[in-house]
Amino acid sequence: QWDSDVSRAELLKAVQGSHGLLCLLTDKIDAEVLDAAGPNLKVISTFSVGYDHLALDEIKKRGIRVGYTPDVLTDATAELTVALLLATARRLPEAMEEVKNGGWRSGTTLWMCGYGLSGSTVGVIGLGRIGMAIARRLMPFGVKRLLYFGRTAKADAAELNGEFVPLDTLLTESDFIVVACSLTPETQGMCDKAFFSKMKNTAVFINTSRGAVVNQEDLYEALTSGEIAAAGLDVTTPEPLPTNHPLLTLKNCVVLPHIGSATYSTRGVMASLAAQNLLGGLQGTQMPSELIF
Ligand code: NDP
Ligand code: DGY
Repeated sequence: QWDSDVSRAELLKAVQGSHGLLCLLTDKIDAEVLDAAGPNLKVISTFSVGYDHLALDEIKKRGIRVGYTPDVLTDATAELTVALLLATARRLPEAMEEVKNGGWRSGTTLWMCGYGLSGSTVGVIGLGRIGMAIARRLMPFGVKRLLYFGRTAKADAAELNGEFVPLDTLLTESDFIVVACSLTPETQGMCDKAFFSKMKNTAVFINTSRGAVVNQEDLYEALTSGEIAAAGLDVTTPEPLPTNHPLLTLKNCVVLPHIGSATYSTRGVMASLAAQNLLGGLQGTQMPSELIF
């Protein structure tokens, strides 16, 4: 157990002969780590719902079980997504900065104006556990239409009158676009030049899924050229984002350090679930949240 990020070299050394591995999403568990662990390894328990950092094909080949933490972080992540959307759309970080730096302008009507949810169309890419929880929280702000895109239509979208639409429809008709899908080979780089060019100039883009879903150079271009109004990101590539990254120079881009599930209680429940998954795997018994793949 380490107090901070474990280096790759340390992990490769310490994992040797292990029967179980409890990892974070920052630990890339690939063939090299699995080979270093050796044949004892029975279970990998990740402290996350996302599992794009796990080489599932290699893990499967070795007959290793996987535990993860779905559901228990859904509320916290949805809440953070709403906070990020509002902060981005209503320009909160920029406005707070103006209060501190003497830029507060009274007597002007358009200064610090942003975009509101009332009467808007919201598009969610990936209406899964978290996507649906985000939509449920956004609708009471007076959202007029909910559009969503994914691989399959969702029965519970009916409760929000959600419309399952092609991606292009979502892009051209939404005022707010929220990305909440998992990172897969299909979604990697999905938000690129063509994607942003179809969005409204007044639209706000929010990503709380994984950084690699977005082509950040194309996002920078879209934000600086006025192709889209603003972006809020809880996830980036890489993480941490270098402090000299161009996106951090933009007033219309709000970047958070991957804190979607970061409430004390949620992290506590995630820790407990990850530990129980690990123990179940070690003992060869039921794991409370086993990933079936
Ligand atoms: P779910 O599996 O419930 O939802 C994933 C969604 O992604 C599904 O709706 C799925 O649609 C959609 N999806 C998969 N492939 C595609 C595709 N090719 N195009 C469009 N949509 C697709 O997972 P969760 O909601 O629990 O979590 C989602 C992700 O959120 C995690 O994988 C993780 O990356 C991220 N996350 C980020 C956090 C943060 O701190 N920022 C915290 C927690 C999670 P379908 O069902 O139709 O296949
Ligand atoms: C996850 O669980 O996948 C998040 O990104 C971190 O909690």
